[in-house]
Amino acid sequence: MQGLTARARPRVWASRARGAGYSPPVNVEVLNGVNLNELGRRDPKLYGGLSLSELETRIYEWASELELRVRCRQTNHEGQFVEWCHEALEIADGVVLNPAAWTHYSYAIRDAVELLRVPVVEVHLSNVEEREEWRRTSVIADLAAKRVIGKGPEGYREALEFLAGGA
Ligand code: DQA
Repeated sequence: MQGLTARARPRVWASRARGAGYSPPVNVEVLNGVNLNELGRRDPKLYGGLSLSELETRIYEWASELELRVRCRQTNHEGQFVEWCHEALEIADGVVLNPAAWTHYSYAIRDAVELLRVPVVEVHLSNVEEREEWRRTSVIADLAAKRVIGKGPEGYREALEFLAGGA
């Protein structure tokens, strides 16, 4: 995997301080898909009750504790999600994906994820295995190094810990 180039360097990384024992940061892209911008208005029993921005704040805090450089992004546009996967090819050492409803049918996203050569963690806030039958299908499951399902917002922490090498 190539390192982060100056051209591609995102401006919104949660960075860690340089100091004794400094080692190159692990760059992680967190990509959230369709309807997750409405998280705060979705069923809190299923999705945990946080808004997307509250969730992202937690993710950045966890990233900082784990000394990861994380960027969170969300879109309702499938092509945009695909393009962010392509971008991740150039800049990420690990990727956390919650493609939301696309998980269950988007071969376009599957093909994009298949291009990645870094560990991918698939996260779902709700327990998709115990909901409607159609949510049990994930077209990216076999590409994921790890799946975290039904743990609410904490699932993202578990995903980051895995990428940081701790779990
Ligand atoms: C989800 C589960 C999907 O089935 C659903 O379409 C979502 C969110 C989750 O995080 O639990 O929008 O990915």
